[in-house]
Amino acid sequence: MEYKSYTSFDPNFLWGAGTASFQVEGAAKEDGKGLSVIDMIKKNPTITDFSIASDHYHRVEEDVALMAELGLKVYRFSIAWTRIFPNGNGEVNEKGVAFYNRLIDELIKHNIEPLVTIYHFDYPQSLVEQYGGWVSRKSIEDYRAYAEFLFKTYGDRVKYWLTINEQDHVVRIPSRLGLTGDNHYEQLRLGYQANHHMCVATALAIKTFHDLGMEGKIGPAISYSIIHPASSHPDDILASKDAMLIKNNYLMDLHCYGEYSPRFQRYLEDRNFTPTIEDGDLALMKQYPPTMLGVNYYFSEAVRAFPATEEFPIGYQKKALLPEAEAGVFEVVKNENLAATDWGWEIDPVGLRLTLNELHDRYNLPIFITENGIGAYDKLEEEDIIQDDYRISYLKEHMKQVKAAINDGVTVLGYCAWSFIDIVSGRNGMEKRYGFVYVNREDFDLKDMRRIKKESFHWYQKLIASNGEDL
Ligand code: BG6
Repeated sequence: MEYKSYTSFDPNFLWGAGTASFQVEGAAKEDGKGLSVIDMIKKNPTITDFSIASDHYHRVEEDVALMAELGLKVYRFSIAWTRIFPNGNGEVNEKGVAFYNRLIDELIKHNIEPLVTIYHFDYPQSLVEQYGGWVSRKSIEDYRAYAEFLFKTYGDRVKYWLTINEQDHVVRIPSRLGLTGDNHYEQLRLGYQANHHMCVATALAIKTFHDLGMEGKIGPAISYSIIHPASSHPDDILASKDAMLIKNNYLMDLHCYGEYSPRFQRYLEDRNFTPTIEDGDLALMKQYPPTMLGVNYYFSEAVRAFPATEEFPIGYQKKALLPEAEAGVFEVVKNENLAATDWGWEIDPVGLRLTLNELHDRYNLPIFITENGIGAYDKLEEEDIIQDDYRISYLKEHMKQVKAAINDGVTVLGYCAWSFIDIVSGRNGMEKRYGFVYVNREDFDLKDMRRIKKESFHWYQKLIASNGEDL
């Protein structure tokens, strides 16, 4: 719907940008930090690992000064669990605690609100070795205790908390759970068990948050993108609704309502994926839902129906990092209406408005956009110029849709572009860059790690200064 006029962004709207510990910090083995599952991933010969990343660990003051110059109102970062508890539980590492105190104090000094992700992919390897990690029920209490420690240590200054980043991805990517072997279906089954434990752990962390009388808001950072039907054929429309359930809503139903919907229960049963659920688990989730939702949005998808056949019976899944085709349910297809990034992610700003409305209609919670941005091969030209107009246009078009969604009635607390500074991409190393600030390194050539402002930095700076009026 178009409106005759659009109201502006709220004066308290939190304009921001984000990063994640393992992608930005480096210092992977310094000052007592323990190993995480990310540190265990074997070096891919074509891209870099995360050991040095953007060297933020050694450049906190310089980086926060750049955030202040950009005008950020909020900075989203994650805490590396293994800097605080090198073994995931047990002894505290004071140097790790001090590092985040320094970062938070520096942010506060510059009037930048910290938005903390408690755990963003870098699960302690020691917990995998102690009891199998998230697939074991023991994981629940260790996560809760870690969250409690963070609330007590940083809660006097941090008001916005994200519990787990992209849980749906973690449970489907075996290396992020610390799983080995190559039995795809067994890993999916274990993934659903891990997923259940993460939901219980999230509810307990939220309970602890309330029990401690913490101020502020808390919720998961979810990867949630609208899924379009490939055509107006009713079978494709049904496929898109099923895909929304299997990729997005099953998890939100658990977090927000403490329930496995009847349709999703049938889906799990048919595949022998039903997790062990203990008495009281669902009631606990229902009692302690999130008080806000973090949403990571990069692209939308289109799907068509994929009828099961003898060759592809129910249960068949195309082996892919994230679900792409599943017999009897859906198959992801190219959306001819949309352009894509160099990595094939289809650019769909209106999809963000649809996503926000869908979440609002189903769950009615305030939303923080916790990630949105474009990964690109940025080029450093002479005189330190990085002409990233494609990033400006991507962000601008998406922000216009955020404004439209706010006008639709969705409560959006803030917007964190991904990412503040160039970081090592989760899947594509340093060649795929996201930041407003360029880091002068390549995958295997560290150069001088200098920070250089891109064109998008100047654009975002003006936009924040005008509180979004310049869109
Ligand atoms: C999200 C993650 O899935 O996507 C980020 O939360 C990640 O950590 C981002 O960087 C983009 O993915 P990638 O693989 O391009 O870095």
